[in-house]
Amino acid sequence: MARSHGYDPNVLVGFETSDDAGVYRLSSDLAIVQTVDFFTPIVDDPYVFGQIAAANALSDVYAMGARPVTAMNVVCFPCSAGMDMLAEIIEGGADKVREAGVALIGGHTVTDNEPKYGLSVTGLVHPARIITNSSSKPGDVLILTKPLGTGILTTAFKFDKIGEEDLAGAVRIMRTLNKAASEAMQAVGVNACTDITGFGLIGHSCEMARASGVQFLIEAHNVPVLPMASELAGRDILPGGARENMLYFQEWADVSSGVPTALRAVLFDPQTSGGLLISVPAAKAELLVSSLRQAGVEDPRIIGEVVEIEGAPAPRGGRAAPAVRVF
Ligand code: CO
Ligand code: CO
Ligand code: CO
Repeated sequence: MARSHGYDPNVLVGFETSDDAGVYRLSSDLAIVQTVDFFTPIVDDPYVFGQIAAANALSDVYAMGARPVTAMNVVCFPCSAGMDMLAEIIEGGADKVREAGVALIGGHTVTDNEPKYGLSVTGLVHPARIITNSSSKPGDVLILTKPLGTGILTTAFKFDKIGEEDLAGAVRIMRTLNKAASEAMQAVGVNACTDITGFGLIGHSCEMARASGVQFLIEAHNVPVLPMASELAGRDILPGGARENMLYFQEWADVSSGVPTALRAVLFDPQTSGGLLISVPAAKAELLVSSLRQAGVEDPRIIGEVVEIEGAPAPRGGRAAPAVRVF
């Protein structure tokens, strides 16, 4: 997996740092950013599902500080399901792609028992302006651009624990493009970024902190959370992925016992089309928050800071310093 850099110096971002998308240099002033993302329906309305899937797929390009230019549909669909449903999914995706100012130039469909939809997206960026997840610096401030809880809310809806109207906030968040947030961070100039998806806030924070060789300090009570998400988590209504994330990332994340159990679960909740997690020099943090607001981002929030990783090597048989501390 880690081979790509060795073989081709034009691969600027490959597998190694678990970044959002791959980046390939075409010339000294132009690189392409490529990503693909598709998944099974998470809401009942096929048109809305198409919109969400497209916003989610485009997000990885925005997280890299790039401008998406072309997209292709990736579709898996059962012959038995109505073609009307497929048409609506694709229309939702196409409308979202158009909103992003991106050209939809093709796609591919295969038959499959379970429907799946998403996009492969290509973007453009100047090689010197790529924003990776591996260049967060001590002294930075961490900013999150969307509230958490979409995994919990869609799971609760699936199991009839909440109604359609309770899901509306999560749907609005999931189909919001990260375009405005990305353009604002590009204008201000930031050190690192990733988007919050399947690994949840803590999982993606662990990846970014580890790739950057720093430690993140996150203040749990400053993290924006969708209405009802904590309450549902408190009743143990959680997607399987939240539990998996808790188990998997406990090796790198140290969550203080002072953080309530329900909030802790929300911090590990897998997100679909989540917000950008941005690492910005402290001196520019307020400027970025106000620029994000001006760009239409509803509730950008400062959630923590970046420090040097605690220096001492791990004691024999002991744990190394955590990449992320939550308190
Ligand atoms: Co991503
Ligand atoms: Co992705
Ligand atoms: Co990135």
